Amino acid sequence: MKTRIENLLSEVEAFTADSAQKVEEFRIKMLGKKGDLTLLFEEFKQVSGEMKRELGQKINELKNRAQGKINELRETLENSSATTLSLDSSRPGTADSMGTRHPVAVVRNEILDIFSRLGFTVAEGPEVEDDWHVFGALNFPPEHPARDMQDTFFVEKKEGEENPILLRTHTSSIQVRAMQKQQPPIRIVCPGRVYRNEAVSARAHCMFHQVEGLYVDQNVSFADLKQTLLYFAKELFGQNVEIRLRPSFFPFTEPSAEMDVSCSICGGKGCNICKGTGWLEVGGCGMVDPNVLESCNIDSKKYSGFAFGFGVERIVMLKYQVRDLRLYFENDVRFLKQFAAAI
Ligand code: DAH
Repeated sequence: MKTRIENLLSEVEAFTADSAQKVEEFRIKMLGKKGDLTLLFEEFKQVSGEMKRELGQKINELKNRAQGKINELRETLENSSATTLSLDSSRPGTADSMGTRHPVAVVRNEILDIFSRLGFTVAEGPEVEDDWHVFGALNFPPEHPARDMQDTFFVEKKEGEENPILLRTHTSSIQVRAMQKQQPPIRIVCPGRVYRNEAVSARAHCMFHQVEGLYVDQNVSFADLKQTLLYFAKELFGQNVEIRLRPSFFPFTEPSAEMDVSCSICGGKGCNICKGTGWLEVGGCGMVDPNVLESCNIDSKKYSGFAFGFGVERIVMLKYQVRDLRLYFENDVRFLKQFAAAI
């Protein structure tokens, strides 16, 4: 009897089933009214003396193991059939929500893309710069107000320090780095974040983005600059747009101009976006001052160049009519989601 019980125990151990029916058949064979265990219990009644204890324990163990195995198999089969049932291939899928690009990145990419069609390549530079790359090489006299603590964030400014480390106030520093590295022809666009020590409001921020452009070669003229800017404006705002260059001043360009585009909102008739003028300012430009070329070891007698710089947020504001600059830096998803269609 002992060996029979042991054989049955190994049978229980080894048993597996891939259907509920097989489990049921096994249950009937083991635990059913005429099953192995019932027979064993019948026989057990005749056992006497010392054997009773030992065999009793064994039979109980067998019963528990058999029941345990049946429960276990039922559970696994039920779970697997549950997954099969829930696999309904006609059910609508759960949509993954896609991230959206930040409007500043959308417009920056658009600007870079337009200039890449004119042969401009992208150049980048550090946000933490030195005074020479941001001001000195760009022909800013030492007492120029833009160097004032008011406008510039200095990382470290020691008394009498000639070339302090600061956060760049414009991406024009990248043109300096490019000219130091390479002789003309140079044709680059330089995107990047810039910093100015301004109180944050709807109309001003302590950081924003610019795209700078630089073209240096032999015989580059103001007419080339104007044509490049016109092409750019038409690509960005539509073929009907017009541009206007107003005389201005920048230390690093001579002559210098401020660039306006005709207001795409009212078509130039005058509205509250263009403050009734029909024109919107988008950036500065000019012919690279010979002093700047010389600072970067480029022969200003042989080469000339033009440069321009746009504020990216300014263009985003004009394109999407979002008037509060602070919204661009809060990263509120409710704001960002509105640009899901722009790629
Ligand atoms: N760097 C100027 C600024 O931040 C913008 C600018 C004006 C860039 C004229 C230029 C330029 O390259 O030619 O206000």
